Formats: sequence, C-alpha cells, structure tokens
Amino acid sequence: MKPFRLDAFVIRGGKRLRGTVRVSGSKNSALPCLFAAILSDEESVIENVPDLKDIRTAVALLGRLGRKAHFEDGRVVVKAGGRLKPEAPYDLVSRMRASVVVLGPILARLKKARVSLPGGCAIGARPVNYHLSVFRRMGAEVSVSEGYIHAKVKTWRAGRVRLDFPSVGATENALMAAVLVPGRTVLTNAAREPEIPALADCLRTMGAKIFGDGTSTIEVEGMERLSGARYRVVADRIEAGTFLTAAAITRGSVLLKDAPVDHMASTIDLFRKAGMDVRETPDGLLARWKRPLKPVSVKTEIFPGFPTDMQAQWMVLMSITPGRCRITEDIFENRFLHAQELLRMGARIDIKGNTASVEGVKQLSGCPLMVSDLRAGAALVLAGLAAKGETKVLRVYHLDRGYESMEKKLRALGADIRRVAV
Ligand code: EPZ
Repeated sequence: MKPFRLDAFVIRGGKRLRGTVRVSGSKNSALPCLFAAILSDEESVIENVPDLKDIRTAVALLGRLGRKAHFEDGRVVVKAGGRLKPEAPYDLVSRMRASVVVLGPILARLKKARVSLPGGCAIGARPVNYHLSVFRRMGAEVSVSEGYIHAKVKTWRAGRVRLDFPSVGATENALMAAVLVPGRTVLTNAAREPEIPALADCLRTMGAKIFGDGTSTIEVEGMERLSGARYRVVADRIEAGTFLTAAAITRGSVLLKDAPVDHMASTIDLFRKAGMDVRETPDGLLARWKRPLKPVSVKTEIFPGFPTDMQAQWMVLMSITPGRCRITEDIFENRFLHAQELLRMGARIDIKGNTASVEGVKQLSGCPLMVSDLRAGAALVLAGLAAKGETKVLRVYHLDRGYESMEKKLRALGADIRRVAV
C-alpha cells in the first residue's frame, strides 16, 4: 500500500487563464453506475470514468463485495460471476459516503444486506434516515446497530413509495432496488438531479424498465434479472462549473469541451447575470470575461436550482467582486468552512445561520490555506489563482477525491500551480 501523502498545491496568482479544457466524467454519476453492476452477474463496462480516489474506493468495495473489478484508461470493467457478499465494511464505507448506495443493489440481489453507517463529514451530519425509510416502505426490515445498517426483505412491496425528501443518494438507492422488485414501483418525491436520469440510462442498458426519471415521479417495472451494463458516464457539471469560475476569477477565456450544458442552466444563468459572457459553441461552452462582474445573490436548491456543490466557488468569485451579495446554503447545514480560510486572505464575509453576506474586496492576498472538504478545496484553489502572491493549499487529498488532474488542467490553461509533497 502506498504511503499516505499530504500533498499541497502552491499557486502564484494573477495569471489569466486561456485555452481549452476537457471536462471529465462525473464522479457523482460514475459511482452509482459502478455499484449498479452488482445487479447483474454478467460483465459490466463503464466508460468515461474519471481517475479519482473515490473511484478507486468504489472499485475496492466491489472487490470486497465479491465482484472483481478493475480500472484502467477511464474504464471500469466489473468481471462476470463471483459470489456477491452482503456486507459493505466500515473501512471502505467510511472513506466515501457514496458507498451507502450499495445497500439497494445488495438488498435487491440477496434480500439481505449489512452496510456500515458512513458517519458524518465536514459539511454536516449527513444522516441516512431517508435511505432507511424508503427501504422500509418498500417492505424491508431495517435496523441499525453496532455501526451497521442491517436490512432484510421477506417480500418486497411494490406500489407507490414516497421519499421523505428528494435526496439524491436515497433516490439512487431505491431505484437500484426497484429494478429487481416484482411489479410496478412508483417512487414519488424523487430527486431530479442529472445523476438520476444518468443512472436510469445506465440501468436501461442492463434491461431495466424505468419511466419518468428526471421528474419527481419515477415508475419502475421490476425485472427478474438484468444483464451487464455498457455505459458511458456523463460529463461532470460541477467540474465544468468550477472551471467556468476559474475563467471568471482570472478574467480569462476558457472553452469547456464536453461541458454538460443541459445540466448547468442555473449555473450558466448566474454567471451571465454577473456579467460573464457564456455561450454555447459547436466545440463546447465558451466562458469569456469581458467586463468587471457584478455581485449576484444566490441560494442553493435542489435541481434545477443552483447546486450546493457550486456554492463555495461562487463565494470566492463574489469575494473579489465589488459590491455586496448574500449566499444562502439551503441543502447542507455546515457548508461554509471555506469562508474562514477566505477571511484569512482578506475577504469580507459575515455569516449568520445559513446565510453569508459577502462584500467584495479588490484583491485577496495569498497565504497558507487548509482544505476541509472537496468543494471548499476547489474554492480555495480558485482563490489562489486570483490572489496576490503565493497561496499554499494544504490537504489537497480532498480535491483528489473529486477533481481529475486539477493542477495539470489548470496549468495547461496558463495557471502557475504545482503539486508539492509536504
Ligand atoms: C449527493 O450527496 C452528492 N454526492 C453531493 O455531492 C451533493 O452535494 C448532494 O447530492 C446534493 O446535490 C454524491 O452524489 C456522491 P442528499 P447525497 O442525500 O446524495 C440530508 C460533492 O461535493 N439527508 O441529496 O448524500 C443531507 O444531510 C458531494 O461532490 C438527510 O438528512 O445528498 C443533506 O443536507 C458533497 N438524511 C440533504 O439531505 C438522509 O438520509 C441532501 O442530501 C439523506 C440526506
């Protein structure tokens, strides 16, 4: 096993970014698609998978569940056969919360599952009660003890099943079980985030019958068995939004090749309101800074609203945009950790409850910064790109979980950024 490295990024700010960047496959879409492979004994091939720590954790978890999988050149192959095991252990689930969505596919195949509770994380408590209640409504007996979720099913209950909240993970979990539940399951109050229709598309390549994904009511006709998946992961709307912010914050011009424009309407709209020139071209989404930006207030919402995963990036941009605005976080209860680090760079941000009042300053100044979670990390890198002097972003392992070759992509656009071992 490789020793755990605490790499850092060293950034010298002030370079305008110019050029083309290819948007990678979406982490949050790839993960449930990899776990969907459990639903079949046949080989599954998932393509356009980003090379990220979370993907490697998912591949390791598939192995521990008895399904041999390997990742190479943007492709995960989950081998046919193998005996599926019902337990997802703590050491892997604790590394990545998204692992909890193995509960649905394991339960669908084996009628029993034992999945470690993922625990909280920096951005909030992140309980799994919505996951558990949807399975109870589908007929499972679910209990929690000794840090594990224990679930078993005697007889699945099809019919109308309401989710307590349109949780992305709970919808993925329920959908992956419903595809093997006899009869017609109708999931109501389902999440509409693009990761849901993407997962439904993946499941359809396996033979699943799903209708209405992308709306809050998803109908599923359960099948007796499914074949292997052949699926290409959609591009990452959050990575694209992060590079769009990089163009804006450095007063640059960046072409986002393969950007999933249809998934980014609220983000594109917000940047346009602030004054960025963002347009679709045959080669991708072109983001050009043309004039000083204006502050625009925003609130995070479920899809199609402005995504919580772009909130930190927006805060950085607003912190150097003259004028005042308010940023309200309505999805997670503790997702302003980046603000503390931005204050140390000279930003003016006042937080009350779930709202941050931001007053733009002329420039931030570089200093050492500590990353607390994935998107906060992306925001701090963006801050470094615009700051005066040198910014050292510590603990970039959070970024490596969700951004493929971030520093290489930024360097190719002209940024002065390098990775150093600390
Ligand atoms: C997914 O998390 C994403 N992760 C998150 O991206 C994203 O921020 C989030 O959806 C919202 O869009 C993956 O897809 C792997 P939720 P998920 O269940 O499914 C609360 C990133 O940076 N909740 O829709 O976990 C929860 O605490 C990550 O890439 C419960 O209370 O999100 C949150 O406040 C971070 N009980 C809200 O609901 C539950 O049982 C929405 O969570 C489940 C969720």
